[in-house]
Amino acid sequence: MGSKIIGLGMFAPPKTLTNDELEKLVDTNDEWITTRTGIRERHIAPPGTANSDLCLEASRRALADAGIDASDLDIVIVGTVTPDMPLPATACFLQMKLGAGRAFALDLNAACSGFMYSLSVADALIRAGRGRKALVVGAEMLSSITDYTDRSTCILFGDGAGAAVLSECDNGDGVLSCHLHSDGSLWELIRCTGGGTVNPYGPETVQNRLNFIRMAGNETFKHAVTRMVEVSHEALSRNGVTIDDVDLFVPHQANMRIISAVGKRLGVPDEKVFVNLERYGNTSAASIPIALAEAREQGRLSSGDLLLMVAFGGGLTWGSALVRM
Ligand code: UT7
Repeated sequence: MGSKIIGLGMFAPPKTLTNDELEKLVDTNDEWITTRTGIRERHIAPPGTANSDLCLEASRRALADAGIDASDLDIVIVGTVTPDMPLPATACFLQMKLGAGRAFALDLNAACSGFMYSLSVADALIRAGRGRKALVVGAEMLSSITDYTDRSTCILFGDGAGAAVLSECDNGDGVLSCHLHSDGSLWELIRCTGGGTVNPYGPETVQNRLNFIRMAGNETFKHAVTRMVEVSHEALSRNGVTIDDVDLFVPHQANMRIISAVGKRLGVPDEKVFVNLERYGNTSAASIPIALAEAREQGRLSSGDLLLMVAFGGGLTWGSALVRM
């Protein structure tokens, strides 16, 4: 018994933050942001929004797409680094708001690899017989941990959510394999160090601006390219296929130059690479499921297609999945 994707949905808050608007906040310009990242705008949730509100919208759309009810769900997983609060899990809020009363719910923190990790865990739970239908969400409100005085990061991040419904599948299609890796020794490259047990919340945490995300962009860039290529090859060779067999390649949307470098090294033609980074920026765990939902909507992901997804993020974490739609 394996699992297959039977529904997709996404949601991004309507308000956008453009490069021109960022020029007024920090010493940057549209030309630098566009050429160095490919990003033109990102979506920002209004004050009073909870991450689980974004999850809810994306999930409702994914459930409608799947043609099932929330009460049919056995498992709810939310991949995120920006939960509603430290306790309880955002997935529990989502379970309540959806009315998925039968499902058990958990959050998973694997930063930008959050959706790859969540998909892999949901697939494994279904394979192990722990449930038949799972809702897998990648959702972030990165605006809540972005320092809008730090030009090296504030130009990158945006808010949004994407959701996939997984159902058991016994014909060998669906999720063919998932591949996950981590390297905690490189944790400092992408971090938000305030608010945990090491630096509990207090005046000093805020004074030292530890509640914001920090990134060593240039070094992260190099690891991202190497690892995303490596783990893509791992998925292809595990399944005895080549990149030519892949119909759509959906990489984590962090930087256009990373996507191009990975695509080039793998030998994927541009028309098979899905990119929506220019409109959303880097939405961390939400980037891949948002891309999947949009690809489906645009008719670029059809039944029977071979889909390769790959992500990289803080932790460090990285992972890939090969899926027969
Ligand atoms: O999603 C999880 C994984 N994350 C990633 O994969 C992100 C990986 N990294 C990146 O996308 C890129 O490294 C960045 C977009 C973050 C930065 O691009 P870069 O080409 O690596 O630039 P850099 O950090 O090497 O900085 C080059 C220059 C510096 O100036 P000097 O020292 O050469 O004078 C920066 O101060 O660009 C400057 N700079 C900026 N200039 C204008 C940095 N940010 C900005 C900015 N506007 N926003």
